[in-house]
This record gives sequence, C-alpha cells and structure tokens, in this order.
Amino acid sequence: MMSITTIVAALSSAAIILITLTHNLKGRSSETLPPNSPPTVPSFIPWAGSLLSFLWDAQTFLHGCRSTYGSVFRLKMVGRHYTVITDADGIMNVMRDPQKVLASPNVTLMEAGGDLELGSIGQAIHDKLAVSVMRIFSPRTIPIISPVLIEQFRTNFRNFASLSDGHSRVMLTHFVGQTMYSSVCMALWGPRFPTETFSEFYLIDSNLLRLLSPMLLPPRKSVHARETIKTLLGEYMAGLGQDEEEYGGMEVPIAIHDLEIPAPVKEGLFLGLMFGLHSNTFRTTTWLMQYLLCDKQLWARLREEVDTAINKHFGSLQKLISAPPHLFGETFFPLLDSALKETMRLSIVAVILRRATVDCDILINEHKSVHIKEGEYVYTHRDRINMSDEYFENAKTFRADRFMNYTEEQPQPMSTFGGGAHICKGREFAIYEMKIFAILCLRLLDFEAERPDGSSAEGYIPEAVYAYPTPVYFPKDLYIYVRPRQDPDIESI
Ligand code: HEM
Repeated sequence: MMSITTIVAALSSAAIILITLTHNLKGRSSETLPPNSPPTVPSFIPWAGSLLSFLWDAQTFLHGCRSTYGSVFRLKMVGRHYTVITDADGIMNVMRDPQKVLASPNVTLMEAGGDLELGSIGQAIHDKLAVSVMRIFSPRTIPIISPVLIEQFRTNFRNFASLSDGHSRVMLTHFVGQTMYSSVCMALWGPRFPTETFSEFYLIDSNLLRLLSPMLLPPRKSVHARETIKTLLGEYMAGLGQDEEEYGGMEVPIAIHDLEIPAPVKEGLFLGLMFGLHSNTFRTTTWLMQYLLCDKQLWARLREEVDTAINKHFGSLQKLISAPPHLFGETFFPLLDSALKETMRLSIVAVILRRATVDCDILINEHKSVHIKEGEYVYTHRDRINMSDEYFENAKTFRADRFMNYTEEQPQPMSTFGGGAHICKGREFAIYEMKIFAILCLRLLDFEAERPDGSSAEGYIPEAVYAYPTPVYFPKDLYIYVRPRQDPDIESI
C-alpha cells in the first residue's frame, strides 16, 4: 500500500509540474481584481490550489514564487486566498495595522485543541482569555510564579541527573521539554495538574501539521493523545476551587471553566492555550541549548558570565532567584541576552496570519500598496527577513554576540513576538523562563553532548529552517548526559 508520504509526494510533484507548465499564465485569473492587486500564482487543482506544493516544501515553494512574482503575491489554498508579503516594511504594516482592518484568525494553535466551533463568540472568548493571560504573565506577577517554577526546574534537573547517571543519554528535546512543561504547569496550576501529560503533548506538538491540515489523514496516535490530554484537562478543571491552594496562573483555567460552552470545547481551549504557552518556548530553548552545547568555548564564556553575575553582582544563587525579571537583561548577562536574541532571530515564528475585515489597501513601502479583498488572508513570510544578508551580515550564521553593543543604526531583528494589537501576551514570561532555565543549567549542571551516532556534538550547529504551522522547528536531534556540576564551590542542584 502506498504511504501518505508517497501519495503527497506524487500529488505534489504533479502540482509542481502543473505550475511550471503554466508558468506563462502568470497572474491570469478569472476574477476581476483592482489594478494594485498582487500577481496571482496560478494553480489548477480545484479547491486545494497550491496546498500540496506548500506542504511539500513551503520554503522552496515560497522562495520560488517570490523570484517569479516579486515580493508580494497571491496564492490560493484550500478555497482561500492568501496575499503573501515578504518585505520588512510591508510585514511591519500588517502587524501594526494602522487602519484597524485586519483581524487575527488565531486558528493555528487554538485548533490544535480540536474542533472548537466557537463561531461568533470566538473573538470575545479569545479577547477575554488574552486579558487573563496578560495579567498572569506580566513582569509584576512573574515573581509570584517564579519560586515554584525554579524549585521545579531543580527537581527536574535532579531527576534527569539521576536518570542519566552520567552513563545513559537522553534527548535534549526531552530534557528541555519535560522540564519546562512540568515546571511551568506546576507553577501556574498547582500539584493537581496532570504533568505526566507531557508525552501526549509532545506527540501532538510533533504532528501538528498533519493534525491541522485538511488534506492529510490525522495520525491516529496523535488523535488519541489529544483525547487523553483533553479528558485529563477536563478533570483538572472540574476540581478547581475545591479548597485548594491558589497557584499563580489559576485565573486562566477558572475563566475557561466558567464559560458557557460545552465541556469538550473548554478542554480544547485549554489545550490550545497550552500550545501558546509551551510550544514556542520549549522549542526556542532547545535551539538555544543546542547552540551552546555544540560550542565548548561559548559554553565556557557563558558559564563565566553567569558565575560572575551570581558571585559578584547578586551575591548568591538564592538572591538571583528572587530578583525581578528586568535584572536578567543585558546589564548582568550581556552574552546570554544576545545569544537568546540571536536564537530567536534564527528560529522565529515564521508566519503571522491576518484576515481582511473589509476591502482595503495595505502599504508595502512608500511607493507601493496592495489591494486585499474582504475575507481574504494576509500571510507574512518573516523568515526571509531574519535570514537575509540584506538585513544581517552573514545572516544564516549563528553569532552569539551579534546583539551585544547593538546600535540603533544597525538592522534590528524582526520582532520575534509580533507587534501591534496582537503582540504576544506571554512575551515577558517567555523571555524570563528561557533565561532562568539557561542560567540554572549553566550554573548547576555539567553536560556532555553527542550526535545521534554517538560522535562528539562539537560543531553540530542547528540550521535555521522555515517552520509552518509549528511555530518553531526543532533543531537536529542531540543527545546529552546530564550530571550535577562538579565544583565544590558551587551549590548543589
Ligand atoms: C519563545 C516564546 C514565544 C514566542 C516566540 C511567541 C510568539 C508569538 C507571536 C509571534 C505572536 C503573535 C501572533 C500574531 O500576531 O498573530 C504571539 C501571540 C500570542 N502569544 Fe506568544 N510567543 C511565545 C510565548 C508565549 C507564552 C509563554 C504565552 C503564554 C501563554 C504566549 C501567549 C500568546 C498569546 C495569548 C498570543 C495571542 C495574542 C493576541 O492575539 O492578542 N506566548 N506569540
């Protein structure tokens, strides 16, 4: 029997051939479009349009479209029209949306929670939850969450160190993912939260594209994992408020539980939010750790920076742990701050999607605007900017110190957390979580890293690739041995 991959490959090749054969029809379309409409990429597969080429290799496909049709073009996929924008200024204008004509469909991660069918109340629910998320993850409330978070990080470090015992290797992705997932869930939602659901969460997260794509069969194991995790989230929400201690983030599940919508929809919403909370953060941190673990010199420089900050500026690890989040920035941790920015530059959430609420013209640059019809989608293709030599010298290369002593005149990274009304509501927390995780690893643990075949990981640098719909791709597989740091002057884990 032909596998799904073979079928997709065959269909995709057919689609590419069709597109190539019809190259000379570029821009022709049966619709009547205003003169400043972007050129349309032809597609002759009804409804699916360019989907197969996109799914097969989105990066190559979109780059090919850009070289043929210019920096803004229009695609048809699954019965929808997408105007793809690849210029920095155009993308900024979409995010800022000065005319307030672009809505955030916000489907991608929320739909990971299953069929939500929220209809007309969807936006109101989304806005309500966004307020709770903003409150919980603000710099003022982070110090309330952080003691449990850090205690849980250390518990997980101890577990991994005894599991690895210096002899058994674990995958870096699991070390980072399991530690961040269970620690954040415990810190926000208390010990009753089913943290053992990480394996289900990881399975769904790894298969997100197939789960969300209308053209592919959803993988059975991931569908099952989604049902399991939703049931456990439902049980957790049902028990809320029964004489239990308040944890820093309980406002969110309580708000979801109080909504007048069917239980499976509440569970799906909670799961969707979990993707917003964990997916990008743990993937970005995996990238960061991999960059550090593949370069012994960089690791040593960062360890020195962390030790100096703790010993000289903060006085002790305990004082650093209770410090407010703004002290984790460039003043005391300039290299770590820069390395994280550089990681986020290369592992950016590539796509931000919007939907036009009315017919409108979007400014691409001072000479050009494009027309978008009501109901059509605007798709910003952001990786081209972050990985282009036009904006960053040697853009594809990871340079940990790129953002140290950065000046206003130098090109700035595309705002990793978006911009405008829909800017990421968890960004302060995400940065804090990623930094404190890295600081604790550098201070408390010794790692030995190797490639899948057991050879040394030195120089095994992850390559930045385009990711959709999963926000940030996992880098290459890396295995680690974890041990408590062997230094009598350093506190134990
Ligand atoms: C490295 C980690 C993260 C990255 C790179 C990231 C990135 C983003 C981006 C680019 C957007 C804008 C999407 C758009 O404009 O359509 C966004 C929105 C959002 N993020 Fe994050 N995020 C991260 C972590 C988090 C965390 C920890 C939370 C906490 C729950 C969170 C909650 C949200 C929410 C609620 C929105 C929707 C905002 C709105 O539509 O009003 N994110 N994120």
